[in-house]
Amino acid sequence: MIRKFMFGTPINTEAAAESEEAAVGSVPFVEIQEGGTKLFYEMDEADIIYGLGENIRGINKRGWIYESRCNDDPQHTEDIRALYGAHNFFVLDGKACFGVFLDYPGIVQFDMGYSHYDRIEITLEDANYVLYVITGENPADITKQFRKLIGRSYIPPRWAFGYGQSRWSYKTEEEVLQVLENHKRAGIPLDAVYLDIDYMEHYKDFTVDKEAFPDLKKLSGRLACEHVHLVPIIDAGVKVEPGYEVYEEGLENGYFCKNEDGSAYVGAAWPDRVHYPDVLNANARKWFGEKYQYLCDMGIEGFWNDMNEPSIFYSEDRLMEFFRELENYTKVRPDMGHVGELRGKLAALENNPEDYKKIWHDKDGKRLCHRQMHNLFGYNMTRAAGEAFERLYPDKRILLFSRSSYIGMHRYGGIWTGDNRSWWSHLLLNIKMMPSLNMCGFLFSGADIGGFGSDTTEDLLMRWLEFGIFTPLLRNHSAMYTRRQELYAFDRTEALAGILKLRYRLLPYLYSEFVKAAVNFEMYLAPLSFAYPKDSFASQVEDQLLVGESIMIAPVYEQNARGRYVYLPERMKLYVFQREQIARKTVLEAGHHYIEVSLEETAIFVRPGHLLPLCAGGLHTEELDWDKLQFLGMEDEEASYLLYNDDGYEKDYENPEHYTRLRKR
Ligand code: GLC
Repeated sequence: MIRKFMFGTPINTEAAAESEEAAVGSVPFVEIQEGGTKLFYEMDEADIIYGLGENIRGINKRGWIYESRCNDDPQHTEDIRALYGAHNFFVLDGKACFGVFLDYPGIVQFDMGYSHYDRIEITLEDANYVLYVITGENPADITKQFRKLIGRSYIPPRWAFGYGQSRWSYKTEEEVLQVLENHKRAGIPLDAVYLDIDYMEHYKDFTVDKEAFPDLKKLSGRLACEHVHLVPIIDAGVKVEPGYEVYEEGLENGYFCKNEDGSAYVGAAWPDRVHYPDVLNANARKWFGEKYQYLCDMGIEGFWNDMNEPSIFYSEDRLMEFFRELENYTKVRPDMGHVGELRGKLAALENNPEDYKKIWHDKDGKRLCHRQMHNLFGYNMTRAAGEAFERLYPDKRILLFSRSSYIGMHRYGGIWTGDNRSWWSHLLLNIKMMPSLNMCGFLFSGADIGGFGSDTTEDLLMRWLEFGIFTPLLRNHSAMYTRRQELYAFDRTEALAGILKLRYRLLPYLYSEFVKAAVNFEMYLAPLSFAYPKDSFASQVEDQLLVGESIMIAPVYEQNARGRYVYLPERMKLYVFQREQIARKTVLEAGHHYIEVSLEETAIFVRPGHLLPLCAGGLHTEELDWDKLQFLGMEDEEASYLLYNDDGYEKDYENPEHYTRLRKR
C-alpha cells in the first residue's frame, strides 16, 4: 500500500507517473520534526536498508551518510557522500518493513546510522516535498509497488545490449575505422563505437568537426553495414560563441538558465565558457531536444548525455576573486599553511554549491532558483531528448543514457555510473550498486568496464567483463592518458573476446529478462534476499546477484583469486564457462561452497524450476539466431521459459506475439 503525504508547496518533479491521492492522518513509521525538515526512524540491531540508487558502499546502506546532490566528482572513494544521481528511495527491512520515497529535488542528507548507528536521520533544506510511505510483504513487493508508481523503465533498442567500445576520445574517422577493423580482425563482438567530445567542433553540441570527421553520415552508414552503431556524446553546456547557431538561438529565445538579473548564466565546462539550456522550461526543453535531430539525420541512433549535474568547472566571479587573493599571497612569507589553503581554494572553484544558488530557471511560468531543484537538471536534459525522440521517431527506440539523474528520468533513458577507476574495489562497487539502481527504476545501466581513470590490467578487465556481461549497458570506456583498454590491446585478446561471446550467447535470456522486468516492474539485477526473503543469511550476501528469474551470479572481484566462496540459498546447478563454452557443470546443494573459477571462467548458477536459454552466439546482436536455443537447468525436472523477442525497435512490449513459452526438449 502506498500513502502519499504533501508538505508545504512541493515542486512538481514529475517523478511519479501515477498520481496518488494525498493521505490524511499522520505519517507512519517516521517521526517528523523541525517544521518538516527532519525525518527520524529508530532502527533495530538487525535492520537493513536497501536502495538509494547510485551511491557508494554496500547493498545494505546502513552505517554511512549519503547526500542527494548530483555532483561531478570523479573520486568515487569510500568516504564521499554524493555521486552523479539523486535517488531518494529506500526500503527498511527488519522489525518493520516499509519503503520511503522523498520526492524532493533539493539537497537531502540521508544519515543512515552514521551519526548514531541505530538511527536514520534525514535532513532536507526546506519543507516542501512529497513523501511516499509504502508498505508490503517484503522489500521486493515494496519495490515493485514503487516502480509501478514511477512508471515503466526505459527500454533501449536491442542492439544496445551488444558490446560498446569507447574511449576519450577516438578523434578521427580513421581512428574509428581502425577500432572497427581491429575488432573484426580479432573476432571481438561489437555493436557500438562511442564518440567522446572530440568529434565536435571545439566541443560545441550539435556540430561535427569536419576536418576530423569529413562525412559523419557516410561513416555511420559504413558502420551500419557492419552492424555497428556510432554513439556520440552530448554535453549539457552550450559554448558561448557568437555566430554559433545553438548559442544564438538559445540566447535570442531566452532558452538558457539565467542570472538573477535575467541575463544568461555563464558557467564553464569542456568548451570553456558555456550557457546551460533551461531544460526545466518546457519550450527550452523542446528546443534543445529537437537539436538531436541534426545527428539523427546522419544515421545516429544513440546518445550519451554528459556533464549534466550540471558540471561547473569554475565561475568567472569566483575565479577572479581567486586571482585577487593570489596577489595577497605575494606579500607574505610563504609556508606550508599557504599551500594547504591554496589547494582548498583551487578545489572550491569546481562545482561550488554557492554557484548553484546564482542560477535561475523558468519553470511553468515561475522563476525558481536552481539550488531548490538542483537534482532535476540531468533528468530534464535527458527528458528533452527522450520527448523529442518520441515526437520525431514515434516508432523507433533510440539509445539514450545520462550521467546525472533523478527518479523519473528512468522513463526516458538509462545511466552509466560515471568516472570510476581501474580499481578492483570499483568492480565490487559496480556489483553492489546495480541492484540499488534497479530498485529506483534504472534498469538500463552499467559502469565503465575496465575502469575509466587509471591504468587497467588485463586480469581486471577480464574479471570486470565476466561481471559486465550481465549488466544491460556493456561498455568499455577509458580516459585519455590511460593505458589503451580495447580488448585487442592485451595478450589474451581471444580470451577477452570469448567472454563477450558468452554475453552474446546469453542475449536471448538477458534481453527477455530485461524487457519483462521493465514491463512487470520487476528487478533485473537483484540482491539474493529479494527472492529468498526468509533466508536470514541471504540478506547478508553483498557480492552475489540474481539476474532475472533463472540465474544467480557470483563474480570474482579479487586480483589473483582462482575461485571464491559462494552461498546457495537452495540447490542449484552450477555451470562454469571457459570463455563462451561450458567447461564443467555440477549440482550444488544449498549452503556454503568454495568454487574454482579461473581467470578465463565465468560461473552461472541456474535455479531449480528454471531454465537458461542459450543461443549459438555471434559477433553482432543482429546476427543472433533466436530460433535455435539450448536450455540449461536441472536435468531431472520439468521447467519452461517465457522468451521475449521483437524486431529490436518496436515499442508494443505487451503484444503477446513477442512472447513464446518454451519447454526443454
Ligand atoms: C566526463 C565523462 C567521461 C568523458 C569525459 C570527456 O568525465 O564522465 O565519460 O569521457 O567527460 O567527455
